[in-house]
Amino acid sequence: MTKFNFDELIDRHNTHCTKFDGYGSFTSDYDEIIPMWIADMDFATPDPISDAIRKRLEHPVLGYCIPPEEYYTTLQDWFSKQYGLQISKDDVTYTPGVVAGIYKLIQCWTKEEDGVTICPPVYYPFADVIHGSRRRLVEAPLLIKDERYYIDWEALDKALAQSKILLWCHPHNPGGRVWTAEELQRVATMAKQHGCLVISDEIHADLTFSGHRHMPFPSVSDDAKEVGMSLMAPSKVFNMPGVIASQMYIPNPRLRDVVFPYMVQNGLAHASCYTYSAVIAAYKECGAWSKACMQYIEENVELVRKYITERIPRLKMIQPEASFLIFLDCRELGFRTTDELASFFVEKAGVMLNDGSTFGTGGEFFMRLNVGTPRSVLEEALKRIEKAVNAL
Ligand SMILES: Cc1ncc(COP(=O)(O)O)c(C=O)c1O
Repeated sequence: MTKFNFDELIDRHNTHCTKFDGYGSFTSDYDEIIPMWIADMDFATPDPISDAIRKRLEHPVLGYCIPPEEYYTTLQDWFSKQYGLQISKDDVTYTPGVVAGIYKLIQCWTKEEDGVTICPPVYYPFADVIHGSRRRLVEAPLLIKDERYYIDWEALDKALAQSKILLWCHPHNPGGRVWTAEELQRVATMAKQHGCLVISDEIHADLTFSGHRHMPFPSVSDDAKEVGMSLMAPSKVFNMPGVIASQMYIPNPRLRDVVFPYMVQNGLAHASCYTYSAVIAAYKECGAWSKACMQYIEENVELVRKYITERIPRLKMIQPEASFLIFLDCRELGFRTTDELASFFVEKAGVMLNDGSTFGTGGEFFMRLNVGTPRSVLEEALKRIEKAVNAL
């Protein structure tokens, strides 16, 4: 028996919560819909994190703050424990969110109209950030075989030849793929050959399932260290994305000596006055919570796999190797447009999922299901989907 209660139903309405309060415009049946879209979990954030924030807020002055020494030693301990890596304090810096970090890294290393490669279907803000910074989007779509994603090496080679940066998702969202050391080493070597840097978004790293291993991109080879920059965070694994805390890990001094001062000059070095306390509490005190949570998530994933195999065989799923997101292959449902498919899930099944087409090329007629939720909610959602699919 775990001492943490992931079955607890917590009402998240009216907390300015994106997942529950932020989709009203999509449906008239707002209260009846189960929201299973944006990537946070419905579990209570672990107590040590909330306690640390409360404690800091007891002080009467909410002034500017600097990262305490303990922030760095905590990250060093975490890297050692999680990935077997000894890092130096100089290798890491705070960043106010992974997407903001990606945006600034692209600005730092490229100019307008330079190419930035992504491998879709992939986390949709990647394309947004590239368009938003007026860089040129270059695609090397992933291959899908037997409901598993693979790198299209030929397409990647061509794409990198026209790019300055590869924006990499590791583990992959929405496919949940944990890239192997061999794959990462080959990506790094190819990037280096083309003179490309690699921004590796590793926000889901610490949600890697048993039987798989996450390795921060720059750690996999000398080439990877030369070209790689990782963005990592406690936000997904400890369910604290609203704290806006992440970190860059850049072990190559030639890269970080450019990037870290650039972040300061661009006003992206400041954390809120309670952020460091929260991050330290998360990494230091919440390991047992995250282990228990991971077990719960893996059981949820298995529940979905079994349920759709046995009861909704027209749906297929990409088996995730990390995180609480499942990409459902809905191509056999026979919808003519992706809009029709997305509104089928909301209007007919009563569940709000992410439309796979928003993840770009190859995501069409897929839907992303967030299983970071109590089991009873997931079971109800599966029943609803089954009923709606049977009625088609
Ligand atoms: C791959 C990936 N990167 C980044 C983010 C968001 O990061 P942040 O909230 O730190 O900007 C998410 C959130 O879902 C994600 O899945």
